[in-house]
Amino acid sequence: MHREDFPMLKQDIIYLDSGATSLKPQCVIDKQVDYYENYSANAHRGDYDISFKVDLEYENTRDLVKDFIGAKRKEEIVFTSGTTDSMNLIVNGFFANLLDRGDEILITKTEHASNVMPWFRVAGNTGAVIKYINLDDNYFLTLENLKKAITPNTKVISIAEITNVIGDIRPIKEICEYAHERDIFVVVDGAQSVPHKKTNVSETDIDFLAFSAHKMLGPTGVGVLYAKYELMQNIEPVNLGGGMNESFDSPEKMVLKEVPTRFEAGTPNIAGVIGLGEAIRYLNKIGMENIEKYEKNLRNYLIEKLVAIPHIDILNLEADSGIVAFNVEGVFSEDVAYYLNKYGICVRAGNHCAKLTKDVVGVTNSIRVSLYFYNTESEIDALIELLKDKDKILKEMI
Ligand code: ALA
Repeated sequence: MHREDFPMLKQDIIYLDSGATSLKPQCVIDKQVDYYENYSANAHRGDYDISFKVDLEYENTRDLVKDFIGAKRKEEIVFTSGTTDSMNLIVNGFFANLLDRGDEILITKTEHASNVMPWFRVAGNTGAVIKYINLDDNYFLTLENLKKAITPNTKVISIAEITNVIGDIRPIKEICEYAHERDIFVVVDGAQSVPHKKTNVSETDIDFLAFSAHKMLGPTGVGVLYAKYELMQNIEPVNLGGGMNESFDSPEKMVLKEVPTRFEAGTPNIAGVIGLGEAIRYLNKIGMENIEKYEKNLRNYLIEKLVAIPHIDILNLEADSGIVAFNVEGVFSEDVAYYLNKYGICVRAGNHCAKLTKDVVGVTNSIRVSLYFYNTESEIDALIELLKDKDKILKEMI
């Protein structure tokens, strides 16, 4: 769908790595160039027309994000540099002050590094304990297993809505309901879900959500932290500096601005934020339901073809998202990626920054195809043609 909008697709490539970063449509590129060419002033600092225009565009994006994820108020939206930054702010700005010795943090072994490492550190600093929720035979997180992992000491559950290797779609609404009845916070890593399916934080009742612009057609270096308004008040800013303070007279007398401004110290990535706004307008025009449906059909098409190849082992056959992880029997995943690259096919290979996944899946590396709505069945046909012939792979790799 809409391939003509993506300049990168004019090249002779087949891009199957949107889980790493998505391609950008021309309108998003133009929007950022327009900022740099025509009104390249700072945000929230100038008293002249072009700077008012910056503020308008920047704050419009906050409204767009709010509506896009179904938040209740725009103050619940903080611009960060990406999912990783958002996760670190949630953990270090909120949970570091809340957790005590013996408190339990629930995660799974299929989480991305940015939903593991900040928790590891905060556990080390506070004496809290990391516990892993058991996964089912498909390596999926089920509500039943989550319930079994909860104890009276559980303080927070931190999970991706869609993980970046296994790609299972987690029942977030049910998880939030169960957790909140027990006063447990729910943090959601939305990096792989927000770009691909409708998100509604008010309906699901998520406490904290992190996601990146660059995986949803926007620029790199921009992300979002959503937190419920009342929780946002209790996040301690990690960065202090210009733009986020009302006054500072002495170490004892620093007055911070209201949320969300107090979390956006320094000059932000203005072009990036404005570009994210344009990406959201573009996604809204297509419709998230249409994107989800299209990707599901494409995934089914890919799976149908892959299962017919005897030397392919699929790690996540039953998952529903556009993420498909597999291996070619007896061949190192990165060798397969190099082989596909010779034919202009871009896939990711390795551990995909989800380095605990091997403990449950049993393999360290895999090839990952991650689809978006601009991919087509004929691109999948080309991939399958190259994967079908194992002798050719062995002969041509590297
Ligand atoms: N987190 C990104 C991925 O899964 C980079 O590929």
